[in-house]
Amino acid sequence: MTEQSLFQDVIRKRRSVRKFEAGRSVSRAALERIVDCGRWAPSGANVQCFDFIVVDDPELRTSVMDIFLQQAQRLVDHAKGFPAVKKTYMANTVAIIIVLGDPRWKVCFPQSTTSEFDAEYQENNEAIFLCSLGAAVQNVQLGVAAEGLTSAWLSGGGEETTNAQLASLLGYPEWMCAYGTVPIGYPSVSQDRRYRRPLDQCLHWNGFNSSQYRSHEQVDFYESTVRPFAMYRDHESMLDWPDAKEKLGDWLPAFTTAQSNPDEQLQAEADFSSPRVQGRATRRRDRDQ
Ligand SMILES: Cc1cc2nc3c(=O)[nH]c(=O)nc-3n(C[C@H](O)[C@H](O)[C@H](O)COP(=O)(O)O)c2cc1C
Repeated sequence: MTEQSLFQDVIRKRRSVRKFEAGRSVSRAALERIVDCGRWAPSGANVQCFDFIVVDDPELRTSVMDIFLQQAQRLVDHAKGFPAVKKTYMANTVAIIIVLGDPRWKVCFPQSTTSEFDAEYQENNEAIFLCSLGAAVQNVQLGVAAEGLTSAWLSGGGEETTNAQLASLLGYPEWMCAYGTVPIGYPSVSQDRRYRRPLDQCLHWNGFNSSQYRSHEQVDFYESTVRPFAMYRDHESMLDWPDAKEKLGDWLPAFTTAQSNPDEQLQAEADFSSPRVQGRATRRRDRDQ
């Protein structure tokens, strides 16, 4: 295999798997190599606004898992309709890596010197901070895949309650935040595929191609109806779903071809701060309220 295809292979193997084989272990050397991948992530102004807590102690792993089980239950109770994960999703990890963000380093990003630009640069600082953390978590996940292990990226640690519990358990200051919690293990199910938009839908050559735009209605449909299948099914293309026509109806071409928007009309900005239409998820939310 060439270096290029080995790299592509690792990229594609990095899959969110939430079911691990029992009775396995991993060497600290492998965990160090994984964290070293995180260390080499890019960051704004090279501030390296991340720390990595590796939990390989079995009792501590269980305590972290307990915190995430409570977090998952809070989702069930207070964010109804979001596709829930199974209760066992953090069982049998060989280690859990927590990627902490240290917000002090934002001061090293561009700062406005005129008050009129305060908001603009604050938003920009936040974006640089979060993108840097994303790069670190992503590198950790790729390092995991390169070791023949698997992982998921749990963002629940970014919620205040979960972060406070993790800070108290692991001893970091509460003003730092666990932006990524990465349970690591040996996959007990093979999940080497996941829905991805066709390359010719998300790749735009030399400018945005409006026939590849996804309409507001397509976002609504994904949120209300198709999301759980896109998140968990083991197919790259929705065309491979045996019930594709039933699940997607007239939306099939929008999710499976380059022409997601054949009439090429772009739309004005709209309020997407909460779900906008009735669907599977919204019906559940309403029923349980
Ligand atoms: C920022 C971010 C937050 C995520 N949060 C969670 C999470 O809290 N729980 C979880 O099980 N998966 C989480 N995921 C994993 C996504 O669900 C997953 O990446 C997506 O469904 C695509 O699947 P794949 O990673 O197998 O390609 C998160 C991913 C990202 C990038």
